This record gives sequence, structure tokens and C-alpha cells, in this order.
Amino acid sequence: MKIQIVNGPNLNLLGVREPGIYGSESFESYLPKLREQYPDVEIEYYQSNVEGELINKIQEVGFSFDGIVLNAGAYTHTSIALHDCIRAIKCPVVEVHISNVHQREDFRHHSFISAACKGVICGFGLNSYRLAIEGLLD
Ligand code: DQA
Repeated sequence: MKIQIVNGPNLNLLGVREPGIYGSESFESYLPKLREQYPDVEIEYYQSNVEGELINKIQEVGFSFDGIVLNAGAYTHTSIALHDCIRAIKCPVVEVHISNVHQREDFRHHSFISAACKGVICGFGLNSYRLAIEGLLD
């Protein structure tokens, strides 16, 4: 079982960026703990601040991996290109958000990618990633 985690813009600053919303742990510190919980699953990680690079990565793994956990950051609310990319590939994609976007500003209430995804998890902090993996394993 191979799962790719893809993090979008500004998520390289987790732990530093608005800790009241996103917590004080970096993704680099969380990832080994996540991997430990799934010793039989190969969990790859990729982060980029660039929309086209996210699309390139999703296309690269989307025909051979078993699933993708995608936190597209703010591109969630803007990107038809990501929507099309998710539709174009073969493996299921779970949309993830650390914060509960529905409790936040109106512009975060709409996602351009949800309709193309298998499911959506938001609001559980970094645990959202684990819950997405649970969903893919099911
Ligand atoms: C986010 C929510 C988005 O609205 C925001 O632009 C992010 C992070 C989250 O994980 O809660 O960058 O995807």
C-alpha cells in the first residue's frame, strides 16, 4: 500500500504559522509519528508552494499509488486546475484541512476540489491526515 501526502502553499511553515489555528508542531516532526502508526503502509511526503508543482506530483503518483492525502492550502479555494487534475488521475484523493474551514472566513467555505475527491476531512488538527489515511485503508 502506497499513500502520497501532498501539502500545498504555506504548509511548510506549520508549527510557526498562526499556531492558534494550525498548532505548534511542524509537519516534519509529525510525519515520523504518523509513519510509525502504519508500518505496513509506504507514506511518501511532498510539499510545494507552487500550484503547477502540486499538479505535477499528483499526476506523477496518481496512476501507481493507492491513494493521495491532499491539503491544497489556499489553492483549495481557487484552483480549477487542481480539480481537473484530481479527476484526471486513477487513485482516490482525500481532501484534508487542519482547521475547520467552515468556522472561518466565508472565502474558505467553498472548495474547488471537494467534488473531485473521494472524501473530505477537516478540523481535527494534524490528526486530519491520520483520519484521511484511515479512510483510504477502508
Ligand atoms: C488549510 C485551510 C486553508 O483555508 C488555508 O488556506 C490553508 C490551510 C488547513 O489545513 O486548515 O493554507 O488548508
